[in-house]
Amino acid sequence: MPDSAPPLRPLRGPRGLPLLGNLLAFGRDPLAFLTRLRDEFGDAVTWSLGPRSSLFVFHPRHIAELLAAREGAYELLEIGWAFRQIVGRSVILSRGGDWRRKRALVQPVVRPRQVRSYAPAMVRCAAAAADGWRDGERIDVRAEMALITQRIVLRSLFGNDLGPRARTLGSAMDAAEQAVAAELRGIGLFLPGWVRTPSRRRLLAALGVIDTEIYRLIEERRGREQAAGQDGDLLSRLMAARDEAGRPLSPSEVRDEAVTLWAAGHETTSTALTWSLYLLSGAPEARARLEAEVEEILGDRDATVDDYERLVWTRQIVKEALRLYPPVWLIPAVAREGAALGGRRVRPGTIVWCSPWATHRDPRWFPDPDRFRPERWSPHARRAVPDHAWFPFGSGPRACLGARFAQVEAALVLATLAQRCRLDLPAHEAVPRAGLLVQPAAPLRATVRKRQ
Ligand code: HEM
Repeated sequence: MPDSAPPLRPLRGPRGLPLLGNLLAFGRDPLAFLTRLRDEFGDAVTWSLGPRSSLFVFHPRHIAELLAAREGAYELLEIGWAFRQIVGRSVILSRGGDWRRKRALVQPVVRPRQVRSYAPAMVRCAAAAADGWRDGERIDVRAEMALITQRIVLRSLFGNDLGPRARTLGSAMDAAEQAVAAELRGIGLFLPGWVRTPSRRRLLAALGVIDTEIYRLIEERRGREQAAGQDGDLLSRLMAARDEAGRPLSPSEVRDEAVTLWAAGHETTSTALTWSLYLLSGAPEARARLEAEVEEILGDRDATVDDYERLVWTRQIVKEALRLYPPVWLIPAVAREGAALGGRRVRPGTIVWCSPWATHRDPRWFPDPDRFRPERWSPHARRAVPDHAWFPFGSGPRACLGARFAQVEAALVLATLAQRCRLDLPAHEAVPRAGLLVQPAAPLRATVRKRQ
């Protein structure tokens, strides 16, 4: 933890337009806007997104304080219609007692001991993809990573015997995600729920397919209630979960939590992998060290979950990629009555934001912040990084439930790919674009070089 956090006053910020506030400047290039806020105005900045007053905090100590106070002095920001259609009333959008109950029910199914059982699927899906690429073939890295993580999440959620349903479910989720992206690019966020735009109709159609399949899977599993939880997949574990009063989740609650784990875990992790491969392609030494580690630890055999701790350099690469390109780049919280930060009162209703993107690139915590340097995370060097200067999975009571799952997945997939091939990307710089996640603005095409 840094020694002292600067005081929150006097608060300054950029001038905004009447009614719109800083919405236009933010919308034009959000990542550059955030960096400018931090550089020009310091650690705590007032700004406004439309008519709502907002506060941005960049200092790790304020971030720690803010994130620790969620579901206390701060609550969830209400977000768009489209996301709610996908995740329903799951843990990710609930509040108060409802959220506490759901979090307690879902947490055990993704705890480290359970994540072990999903590791073979992670390795198998990555190996199958790499074995399918030909030497010299050009691949779209983001699309391929999305395919790998989609297959992993489908197997982890629903087991190995999905058959042709895997394709039906996978395509429906792709369609749903594209419809949400279209909604965000347009004016969808500002439209009431009853308006049916073409993207909303596509979203509802895709969700219809997903729901039909999931309810069918739940029904099939109910037939073998006694064995619930023993199929070893997330769905059966969710069905077997019981709250303090011994109550299970209802079928629609199971559906909502399953789709949430799927939606929250699939594209976030494939984005982290895409950026890792992009960064490695521009860092020959780091890549050679990765290949040497994989050769030494794995040789010709497939990775297992027990290799995770031993793949030290691989994990440092993932950590550094999550620093430079945190898929989730903004975390908001809304102040309630009695909220405070840095010893100051925060007016109820104020939206307080923090950004892994901006804080991860602050030269005070990461010297030469724009450079890819996995050695920052060696056991010795990482002691110099203040607590909460790196927080790609959030923190506090609402921190990411899948952080362990995602990190094991990213490291095992990266090691499995490095064992089999090299992906060479053109040397020009990829431009990050901030939508729901920070992703490359244009497709990243790589040439596959098979390794012996
Ligand atoms: C690299 C991959 C991932 C990143 C960067 C990421 C990031 C995040 C972040 C920043 C939050 C909000 C935390 C906060 O507000 O403090 C979050 C919440 C959440 N994540 Fe992840 N996540 C990833 C992968 C996953 C995976 C694999 C799963 C499921 C298996 C998952 C499930 C969730 C859930 C359920 C929540 C909501 C928790 C709550 O509201 O109580 N995430 N994630």
